[in-house]
Amino acid sequence: MSDPVNTPIRSFKRFPILRRWPIGHVPITKLNIVPWLALVVLLLTTYPAIAQDNAKRLVALLDYLGSDYKNAVQGGKILSPDEYGEMQEFAKRSLDLFTQLKEVDKADKAGVESSLKSLASQVDSKADPKVIAELAKTAKDKLIAAYNIVPYPRRLPSFASGKKIYDENCAQCHGVSGKGDGPGRESMNPKTPPPANFTDPERIGGLSPFKAFNAASFGIEGTAMASFAALSEEQRWQVAFYILSLRFSEDAAKSGTQLVKTKKLPPELQTVATLATNSDEQLLEKLKAFGNGSEAMDMLAYLRRGVTKKRRTKKPWTLISMAMI
Ligand code: HEC
Repeated sequence: MSDPVNTPIRSFKRFPILRRWPIGHVPITKLNIVPWLALVVLLLTTYPAIAQDNAKRLVALLDYLGSDYKNAVQGGKILSPDEYGEMQEFAKRSLDLFTQLKEVDKADKAGVESSLKSLASQVDSKADPKVIAELAKTAKDKLIAAYNIVPYPRRLPSFASGKKIYDENCAQCHGVSGKGDGPGRESMNPKTPPPANFTDPERIGGLSPFKAFNAASFGIEGTAMASFAALSEEQRWQVAFYILSLRFSEDAAKSGTQLVKTKKLPPELQTVATLATNSDEQLLEKLKAFGNGSEAMDMLAYLRRGVTKKRRTKKPWTLISMAMI
């Protein structure tokens, strides 16, 4: 029996369409131009792509430095040698990435060299967390502007789509309810640090969906948290938003829904860009202007859980009925 996959194609006769294609009449020089053009297009598109990717990684590192350094150093004293080591590593790595970026662009396009250098030396001298956060933010904002990085998804992801991706890819380590207690943690390599507990405000108060999106895109070096670049960008955003909902109960989100209306929470606090780039701590600070401690907390529950639950993935029949209208 002939194997349809491995049988060599001996002639165009078996493919009438190809036989009719006037390939034989095209001068050979014109044909040669095609691979060259392809190469030029490839170079034109990959150079900016490499720079963009490096810039995104750099932004991710700066986000980490800016928000996690306070767990490493307080008042000039090291709180956790592991955390501090990680921060030093991140600062060094950010300089390496910057050097690569500068090589590709032949310039310091975002004007961040001095901030990055001073960031690394301030980390070394155990500077105040406020100084580090400020330097990291300055460099991050400049990179985002210079490389047109969009730190939020095109539209607000739905709760259901995020849950599906989380249960399939993340729950094995982080646990179905997000407590960091999935069965896969036993066989992780390396064994420490443990998977983040997404229900612990202390642990994730500084986490924004953008930071979670970056963790899923690039992984976290030196830990078992791998890169999930095989998921599409949209899927990584969906799961990043979902993670931030795990802390909040359905009841809190419901009472938040009412409060957001009665307290007239401004729409700019509810945009997808605000929600993606702010951590829970940052949002809570803003919400405190509109209610007392527990009210602000319930409004946060609405913004993290209620909002995404309202979004539905379109069912085929809605699409069909839309098409009929
Ligand atoms: C093999 C186990 C494993 C899997 C699977 C896994 N993670 Fe992680 N994850 C970890 C570990 C370990 C850490 C802790 C890293 C650290 O503390 O620096 C972590 C940390 C994180 C953080 C960082 C939280 C912070 O404070 O910055 C995020 C966000 C995260 N994971 C998201 C995900 C998402 C999303 C998925 C699924 C797409 C996923 N993880 C799948 C092991 C895992």
